[in-house]
Amino acid sequence: MIEKLFTPLTIGTLTLPNRIVMAPLTRNRATPDGDVPNALNAEYYAQRATAGLIITEATQISPEGKGYIQTPGLYSPEQVAGWQKVTDAVHAAGGRIFAQLWHVGRVSHTSLQPNGQAPVAPSAITAATQVFTATGFADTSPPRALETSEVKRVVEDYRKAAENAKAAGFDGIELHAANGYLIDQFLRDSTNKRTDEYGGSIENRTRLLGEVLAVLTSVFPASRVGVRFSPFSNFGDISDSDPMATFAAAITKASDAGLGYLHMVEGQTGGTRELPPNADIGKLRKLFKGVYMANNGYDRDLAIRAVETGAADLIAFGSRYIANPDLVERLARNAPLNVPDKATFYGGGAEGYVDYPFLDAKAA
Ligand code: PHB
Repeated sequence: MIEKLFTPLTIGTLTLPNRIVMAPLTRNRATPDGDVPNALNAEYYAQRATAGLIITEATQISPEGKGYIQTPGLYSPEQVAGWQKVTDAVHAAGGRIFAQLWHVGRVSHTSLQPNGQAPVAPSAITAATQVFTATGFADTSPPRALETSEVKRVVEDYRKAAENAKAAGFDGIELHAANGYLIDQFLRDSTNKRTDEYGGSIENRTRLLGEVLAVLTSVFPASRVGVRFSPFSNFGDISDSDPMATFAAAITKASDAGLGYLHMVEGQTGGTRELPPNADIGKLRKLFKGVYMANNGYDRDLAIRAVETGAADLIAFGSRYIANPDLVERLARNAPLNVPDKATFYGGGAEGYVDYPFLDAKAA
């Protein structure tokens, strides 16, 4: 009997050959001059084309949306051309790839910002976290609060990035609304102290999310747009006084927008799957009409079980995908997995990026 994890799933007009997804993974290997995707990035993604779906590393929608060195962007012609090489390579290898659209908000540093300006945020509250700059790890810089009129400009930046994703040949896009970055900063009340229509009530805190989803679904069919949330994660020094209520509203908005999938980081980002006492992922998931993609700490058994029982439709694997380009085949054959090397996760070259071995020695 073949487990359901290894069977196809259709989202709108897109059929995934299996339910194994390559999660978005920051690797800091874009060309430093202009944050442009390059041939090495194309090789890395193409190696992983047997995934049911690839979601790119988080990709800034604008220079202001950047928070770490050498993360790729999707706002310049050079970046679009670079991504076109990536999507062409993935498609030639038989894969499907969505771009993850990212604005870091306050999780940045003046040295990474245009003209050394302060990062922007819903409110001028500094994140107690660090980012990676040209000279190594640094505390995040104090942000300034976006003016109400500027929020529309940010929404337009998302629209342009979506148009660029389409021009670059992506099959769809995922809105990064997780892990303490800009959209998440607006959603949660520890970081959003605004008194305009974007702050205060849950309706107001989810307004930016709704406006961004509206522009994204005007560029791509709604079924080709996904969204990622991390309701119970504190990654990025973020929290909420009532995450069940906040994310019930956010997920309802995503469902009403007709999105193809809901992607959730279950538990702490890159950490434990443990949830606070009153957290109920199943209850949140039921509010979404489309496909449910689960992420965080899944191994083979947990993934097979989650899909078999209907707890999830798709499973996104992160660190396992760094080390195993042929993860689908390895899971299908219950073969041993390569062990990821943390020292080469962020930045560097081919080592720890495109040199993890395939099960069967593959003709290069
Ligand atoms: C990171 O660069 O460390 C990073 C980026 C995006 C995430 C999480 C972590 O969602």
